[in-house]
Amino acid sequence: MLRYILAVSCLAWSVSVAAQTVDGSAIFKRCVACHQANGAGVQGAFPPLTRHLGPKAASVAGREYLIMVLSAGLSGEISVDGKNYRGMMPAQAGLKPPEMAAVLNHVLSTWNADTLPKGWIPFTAQEVQVVRDKYKNIRATDVRVMREKIPTLKTRSK
Ligand code: HEC
Repeated sequence: MLRYILAVSCLAWSVSVAAQTVDGSAIFKRCVACHQANGAGVQGAFPPLTRHLGPKAASVAGREYLIMVLSAGLSGEISVDGKNYRGMMPAQAGLKPPEMAAVLNHVLSTWNADTLPKGWIPFTAQEVQVVRDKYKNIRATDVRVMREKIPTLKTRSK
């Protein structure tokens, strides 16, 4: 019995590791209606996902925030590059943990590379799953409160 459980959990593990090779740029197609194909957003409506997210990916609180934006959505006023957005991002409920990790890694490495800390560790499906379980009942407005608690870290260019 124990051997069976081990075999099954090893299988689940290897499937989830394999799934981490999901193409983040393909997943990003779900985001372009709002954030645009180049991630620049639409001023006043949809915030850019460029050049300011590196510091958020550098702390535990910031990483939890980014995962929960996708998992629970985001609602309430935020400020990006001195511009305010008072929007509502729907939860990306159709995305599985490996897809969430892949799309976050795509956004960070494509448009935020200059602002990532040295030795930055990409998101994994496991990290996404753990954080989603930790915050499973929160709402989009709570995610905005998480944003305010992210420490401001100095990374390479900001
Ligand atoms: C229906 C439009 C819409 C879609 C689709 C959408 N977003 Fe958003 N997103 C928004 C809005 C609006 C905000 C800002 C919400 C606010 O003002 O509180 C936002 C905020 C964000 C933020 C927070 C930025 C910051 O500076 O804190 C991230 C990260 C993000 N989106 C990533 C994504 C990713 C990745 C996808 C695709 C998987 C996606 N979004 C799909 C509308 C959208």
